[in-house]
Amino acid sequence: MSKQIILNAFEMNSAMHNSHGFWKHPESKRHRRYKDLDYWIELAKLLEKGKFDAVFFADVLGIYDVYRNSKAPSIRDGLQVPLNDPALLVSAMASVTENLSFAVTVSTTYEAPFGNARRFSTLDHLTKGRVAWNVVTSYLPNAARNFGLQDMIKHDERYGIADEYLEVSYKLWERSWEDGAVVENKETNTLVDPEKVHEINHEGTYFKVEGPHLSEPSPQRTPVIYQAGTSERGRDFAAKHAECIFVGGPTPERIRYYSDDIRKRAEKHGRNPDNIKIISFLSVIVAETTEEAQKKFEEYASVWSPDAAKAQYGASGYDIAEYEEMDPDLPFEYTKTTEGGHYKAATLTKDAPKKLTVGEVLKRFETLDHSIIVGNPTEVADAIQFQFEQSGVDGFNLNHLVTPGDLEAFIDLVVPVLQERGLYKKDYSDGTLREKLFPEGASILPDDHPASKYRHALAKSNR
Ligand SMILES: Cc1cc2nc3c(=O)[nH]c(=O)nc-3n(C[C@H](O)[C@H](O)[C@H](O)COP(=O)(O)O)c2cc1C
Repeated sequence: MSKQIILNAFEMNSAMHNSHGFWKHPESKRHRRYKDLDYWIELAKLLEKGKFDAVFFADVLGIYDVYRNSKAPSIRDGLQVPLNDPALLVSAMASVTENLSFAVTVSTTYEAPFGNARRFSTLDHLTKGRVAWNVVTSYLPNAARNFGLQDMIKHDERYGIADEYLEVSYKLWERSWEDGAVVENKETNTLVDPEKVHEINHEGTYFKVEGPHLSEPSPQRTPVIYQAGTSERGRDFAAKHAECIFVGGPTPERIRYYSDDIRKRAEKHGRNPDNIKIISFLSVIVAETTEEAQKKFEEYASVWSPDAAKAQYGASGYDIAEYEEMDPDLPFEYTKTTEGGHYKAATLTKDAPKKLTVGEVLKRFETLDHSIIVGNPTEVADAIQFQFEQSGVDGFNLNHLVTPGDLEAFIDLVVPVLQERGLYKKDYSDGTLREKLFPEGASILPDDHPASKYRHALAKSNR
């Protein structure tokens, strides 16, 4: 069977995610309904109908406040605020689905590993192994101040913390409870064998955790690890720990460059590069005919908010307002380094298809992104197939501008064409998320993963 596309719905438990200004669109329901459990239950059923692999919940812990040195542009347009906790949606969505999985973003910079490990074990139990953790290090200055810091921790140090955070997490998930610890032996009056439950006694640079883990082992033990870092440090971290890695880029060649680099780094970490799936970004506007799709694009463009887009760019640490007074013909350059996310910053410089002027950069924010695939079902499927084959990725995170309408249109119109071409599954395979993603493997992490070294001798994954 030829390689099939992995598909995640790019989501957030918020009024607005990446659809700047779309609350003004007459068919946008999410900004009113995201607070209702029914909305998420309906979404879960819809995505399972469309055979999506997972719903991917992004999350941030502060307000974008770099643009104009103000929170107002973000708040005014609902840019990822109001924003509720994504993990709390999962049980309800899992209860109405059997195969859809859930990737939840949690920051290693602000939340303590002990509590986080229990959160993911709980979700992994309740979903029967349909959970992933998107590990992020966070890029918002306001988030730092929300967690008692004066300034953001430096970019590379955040990854140092993340590395130790994962070490603690692996000790809790993989080592603390041996297989068979729950013995339920009435004769010896023992529900759990204390000999098989261990403290972890972690003492490192950033964390000190005694343990044992409070949850018994869940189907996957460690949730599937997602990550999305583009910086040197980010790619190295991803190559060591992640199983699904997001790679962005303006062209299939750039995406391939990053993917190849990550796979090489994975080998240096002693991992089989085939145990990593690369996911890139996809945004689609589809309708029955090309003309209708184009009309939809224009309708969407009319509600676009340049201010919210500029505010979101603050994730890079750069304030685009500083360029608004400049000569538009000057080359666009950064004059300082920031502690923000390198991924965003690179999109306008080293990842851009050509060297941009200040005027060209500012113009980009004014209009709805022209990299969106717009067309009838065949045209959209052609473009997706081209990206899939040229970039060598394993799948996509599907953005949606008007929710749930755009997802419904994708499922009704594009999914059947991709299925007909053999590019997309017609049915789910059995098992946990890890088994679905890596059918040759087991429910727990493979033996080449750094987590496996914390395991007890008998708990091998047989990979
Ligand atoms: C598809 C995708 C999803 C992301 N989701 C989140 C998120 O939910 N929360 C967050 O704080 N960062 C998120 N990020 C940002 C990354 O975690 C990371 O901070 C960013 O890419 C910068 O990392 P770098 O400096 O190593 O390039 C996401 C990035 C991508 C490409």
